[in-house]
Amino acid sequence: MKPKNTPTTSLPNAEKVMPQGEELKKAIRNLCREKNAVIMAHYYTEADVQEVADFVGDSLALAQQAAKTEADIIVMCGVHFMGETNKILCPQKKVLLPDPAATCSLAESCPADKFAEFVKQHPDHKVISYVNTSAATKAVTDVVVTSSNARQIVESFPEDQPLIFGPDRNLGGYINSITGRNMLLWDGACHVHERFSVVKLVELKKQYPQAKVLVHPECKGAIVKLADKVGSTAALLRYAIDSEADTFLVVTESGILHEMQKKAPGKQFIPVPPEDSACACNECNYMRLVTLEKVYRCLQAEAPEVEVPADIAEAALRPIQAMLEISERLGL
Ligand code: 13P
Ligand code: SF4
Repeated sequence: MKPKNTPTTSLPNAEKVMPQGEELKKAIRNLCREKNAVIMAHYYTEADVQEVADFVGDSLALAQQAAKTEADIIVMCGVHFMGETNKILCPQKKVLLPDPAATCSLAESCPADKFAEFVKQHPDHKVISYVNTSAATKAVTDVVVTSSNARQIVESFPEDQPLIFGPDRNLGGYINSITGRNMLLWDGACHVHERFSVVKLVELKKQYPQAKVLVHPECKGAIVKLADKVGSTAALLRYAIDSEADTFLVVTESGILHEMQKKAPGKQFIPVPPEDSACACNECNYMRLVTLEKVYRCLQAEAPEVEVPADIAEAALRPIQAMLEISERLGL
């Protein structure tokens, strides 16, 4: 499914002849070599984009990888907040986002000025923000988390420390339920993960009684309750590889199936459909804006670049670094 309402961007060098198929992939790799560029992709992007990337990972791994890359250019095949995180970690490098319209509904559900007001109303609270936020929201945060490390980072605070968690009410509610904390939650959500249907999942569980249910914690609580494994995209992938089961119902964006099938080729992965569609593909409109053609053009033109104002970048770096340091300490 392609996005309907998302604005498209006019891309640089559109007039140049575009190679096709395998030639296009080769041309992209050649440009990477010429320009000392690295391509990073999230598991939710199109399969051919993941295939051309140097590194494919979840949000935590993408940030960790950016922090240590020696490339001059990072092409971030993902959404805008991921590009911002890379730019904040690597201010001297060019960070390219193949389509700048690739935003994130969850990040957008938390405007920085409103979040800052909320934070101000609770001066005794420490502020934890999910990485799916704008740089400006991170700038009023004490520590950033991803779904790979949220539990451990929340538990690193003393039990009596009042906490704010934003912006995902589902992930925050899930972390409250497994840690016994009572964090104040921002009322945001991801449009992809909110769409999964309990009814359809229960039907599929009846059809495949031996299947293990893999759920991303951005899903609603009623879906999470039906899970055998709740975790980040990387954690779900790891579970699928290591598990003795051979069938899995996958309750997250369907792009992850590409890597699951690749890493566990003998197993069956069934994408769970969203409630309002007969199609089993619950896709993130924003991630799917990234195409091989746009990767090629942005590498050629070295644009569009992700920029973060210096004062915001400086304030947002602190909570991102705090996340990376805690994760390293905990071996995550
Ligand atoms: P992960 O960190 O689990 O890859 O999640 C990123 C994301 O955007 C989920 O919707
Ligand atoms: Fe944002 Fe949801 Fe897309 Fe992840 S799947 S990038 S949270 S809109």
